[in-house]
Amino acid sequence: MSALERPLVLGIETSCDDTACALVDGSGRVLTSIVSSQIEPHRPYGGVVPEIASREHLRNWPAVSAEALERSGTELAGVDVVAATRGPGLVGSLLVGLSLGKAIAYALGLPFHAVHHMEGHLFSPFLGVEGAPAQPLPERFAGLVVSGGHSLLLRVSKRGAHTETVARTRDDAMGEVFDKIGKRIGLPFPGGALVDRLAESGHAAAHPLPIAMCGESLDFSFSGLKSRTLLDLGKLDAQGVCTRLDAEEPEPEPPLLDLLAGFRAAAVDQLIDRVRRLHTSEPIEVLAVSGGAAANRLLRRRLETWAAEENVDLRLVRFEFSSDNAAMI
Ligand code: KG4
Ligand code: ZN
Repeated sequence: MSALERPLVLGIETSCDDTACALVDGSGRVLTSIVSSQIEPHRPYGGVVPEIASREHLRNWPAVSAEALERSGTELAGVDVVAATRGPGLVGSLLVGLSLGKAIAYALGLPFHAVHHMEGHLFSPFLGVEGAPAQPLPERFAGLVVSGGHSLLLRVSKRGAHTETVARTRDDAMGEVFDKIGKRIGLPFPGGALVDRLAESGHAAAHPLPIAMCGESLDFSFSGLKSRTLLDLGKLDAQGVCTRLDAEEPEPEPPLLDLLAGFRAAAVDQLIDRVRRLHTSEPIEVLAVSGGAAANRLLRRRLETWAAEENVDLRLVRFEFSSDNAAMI
């Protein structure tokens, strides 16, 4: 492994329900990235409870930061810069990370940077891993950021210094609808990844659902697809197909799997449609794809096929940096 480059950055991310701490060196090489997820305390409520999230961040931080420092082989005294997420996110959760970051920076006399969460995701496909430095940011690239709270298509220029939003969701975000469908069929929160996994065993062609359009605009819309999927789940119920997976009915029946596959295909094909149309109007050379929902298997396959056909340089965020983490901060 190459020698550590200055400045050594301590990153803090606490925007939602993950308590994360990372150490990244001046070349953009990730030394350690620790994420402690709070899934269990929120599970009984079927979603993130803000007050619980803030308290859990406070509880988790000492162990998370100690582990990050220990695994990186560095000490707090060796840190040169502190950065924490400034938003968007849950106010109480953000306050914990920001206060910790500012306090550490003040105590050690270090510079402090407050970082936009979505910018963190946007640049995360370029992070340096396995001992390598970060990949240099291209002069210009297009960014697709799909998470639990956002679905964004961006134009980035001047090596990341200038970003412009091309499209955003008009209603729900991609990850959010996956979680809502997951909740409806009885999966533990957040169900997005499990819905994706179940959809792998279904046939989308057996239950096709339409791709949502917003006229000429490249904006996204997922709430119509969500409503239609919920409605079709009700129809399956009426036909005697079990649509709630629980301890008594853990195995999904083929019609349910087909519906989940149709739902996933319509969501993913909407993203591909927008990327394709942007590419037609202004050719994309590099496409960086990030955010929790960028872990979606069908999305990754479709993007790889499309990028190969169109000769686009695709930078898919690695799985470990797709969901919230502090290395991207
Ligand atoms: O980026 P992230 O960790 O948090 C936010 O900033 O929102 O994204 C989490 C979201 C959740 O909604 C989760 O269900 C979704 O990403 N997600 C997925 C998959 N894995 C995680 N959605 C679809 N397919 C997946 N494989
Ligand atoms: Zn996020």
